[in-house]
Amino acid sequence: MGHGRGSGGWVAVAVVGIVVGIGFGIPEVRADPPAGYDWHVFPAMTDDFEGQQLNTTKWLDHNPEWQGRLPGLFNASNVKVSNGTLQLWARNANITDPSLRQQGYANFTTSAVQSTTLVRYGYFEIRSRVGTSRVSSSFWFYHNNGTEWTEIDVFEMTGENADQPLPYQDTMHTHIFQLPNTAPADIPAKCHCQLPTSAAPQQPAPTMKLKDAASCQRYNITTAATPFDADFHVFSLLWTPTVLEYAVDGAVWWSIPNYCMHQPLTLNFDRETMPDWFGLPEPTHLPDRPFEVDYVHAWQASRYPQS
Ligand SMILES: *[C@@H]1O[C@H](CO)[C@@H](O)[C@H](O)[C@H]1NC(C)=O
Ligand SMILES: *[C@@H]1O[C@H](CO)[C@@H](O)[C@H](O)[C@H]1NC(C)=O
Ligand SMILES: *[C@@H]1O[C@H](CO)[C@@H](O)[C@H](O)[C@H]1NC(C)=O
Ligand SMILES: *[C@@H]1O[C@H](CO)[C@@H](O)[C@H](O)[C@H]1NC(C)=O
Ligand SMILES: *[C@@H]1O[C@H](CO)[C@@H](O)[C@H](O)[C@H]1NC(C)=O
Ligand SMILES: *[C@@H]1O[C@H](CO)[C@@H](O)[C@H](O)[C@H]1NC(C)=O
Ligand SMILES: *[C@@H]1O[C@H](CO)[C@@H](O)[C@H](O)[C@H]1NC(C)=O
Repeated sequence: MGHGRGSGGWVAVAVVGIVVGIGFGIPEVRADPPAGYDWHVFPAMTDDFEGQQLNTTKWLDHNPEWQGRLPGLFNASNVKVSNGTLQLWARNANITDPSLRQQGYANFTTSAVQSTTLVRYGYFEIRSRVGTSRVSSSFWFYHNNGTEWTEIDVFEMTGENADQPLPYQDTMHTHIFQLPNTAPADIPAKCHCQLPTSAAPQQPAPTMKLKDAASCQRYNITTAATPFDADFHVFSLLWTPTVLEYAVDGAVWWSIPNYCMHQPLTLNFDRETMPDWFGLPEPTHLPDRPFEVDYVHAWQASRYPQS
C-alpha cells in the first residue's frame, strides 16, 4: 500500500501525536507537516469548522464556475457546519427548473465548497470521513485562468454501499487541461502524463466546462482493507516545486516528481454523481451520512528545494 514517511527522512511526520478531541473525549490522530521546511500556517485554508456556519471569508458554499456533475446539482443548502465538522450532503430531489432540466440536472442535489483564495505549493492536511452512498466525496485543487488549467485530486471516493469494481479505492489524480505557451501535443512528454486513448491533443474550447475537456493525466489507485466511510482518516498532500506526495494516516501512498503543477489553485471539497464511474446512488441510500471534514490545515514554506 504505502511506505512510511520515515523512509524519506520524514520520521517526525508519521502519526505525531494523539490529541483528545475537545468536548467529545475521542482520540484523534493528528499529523504535522514534514520536517525540513520552514512551514508557516496558511490561515486562508486552515479551518477547524467549529461554530454553526461556514466562514465565508475563506469558503464559498458553491462552485462559482460549475453547477455539478449531471444529473446531480450543487445546492448550497447541502453545505453545513455542524457538530465540529464541515458537512457535504447529497439528497434526492426533483429539479423542476426548465433550464436546469434541459441541461440534464434531474433527481439529485449534491454540494461543493471552494476556497476564496488561490494557493501554490504547501502542505495540506484534512481529517475527514467519506459519505456513505455512491455520490463521490472529493478533496481537490484546480484553477482555470484562461491560459492555464490544471487540477490536483487528492482523493475521489465513494462509500461502502457503492458497487465498486474493487472495494475501497482511493483514487489520486493530476490533470493538465492547458498550459501557457505549450502546444497540446507537447503536454504528455513535458508533463509525463497521458491523454485518454480516445482523445486527440486539443486546446480546450473556451466554452468547455470544468471536467468536460480531455486532460492529460497521471493517477494512482490504492485500495484499503476497510471502507473509507467507516472512519475518519487523515489525508494530506505535500506539493512543492519538485514533488507531489499523497499520504493517508501519515503513510505516503503516492509520490511523484512535479513536472507541471505550478499554477495557483483553489482548494475544493465536493460531492458529485458519477454515473459513468461509481454509478448513480440508490435513492433509498439518500440522504446518506454526509462527507464530513473535521479540519483542514494548510502550511506554506518560505522556500522550497528547487530541482
Ligand atoms: C474567518 O476567516 C477569516 C480569514 O481567515 C478570519 O480572519 C476570521 O477570524 C474567521 N472568522 C471566524 C469567525 O473564525
Ligand atoms: C436547494 O435545496 C433546498 C432545500 O432542500 C430547496 O428548497 C431548493 O429548492 C433547492 N434548490 C434547487 C435549485 O434544487
Ligand atoms: C457529533 O460528533 C461526535 C464526535 O465527534 C459523534 O460521536 C456524534 O455522533 C456526532 N453527532 C452527530 C449528530 O453527528
Ligand atoms: C419527486 O417527485 C415524485 C413524484 O411526484 C415523488 O414521488 C418524490 O417523492 C419526489 N422526490 C423528492 C425527493 O421530492
Ligand atoms: C436520475 O436521473 C438520471 C438522468 O436523468 C436517470 O438516468 C436515472 O434513472 C434517474 N434516477 C432515478 C432514481 O430517478
Ligand atoms: C501507485 O503507487 C504505488 C506506490 O507508490 C506504486 O507501487 C504503483 O506502481 C503506482 N501505480 C500507478 C498506476 O502509478
Ligand atoms: C494564467 O496563469 C499563468 C501562471 O499560472 C500566467 O502565466 C498567465 O499569464 C495567466 N493568464 C491570465 C489570462 O491571467
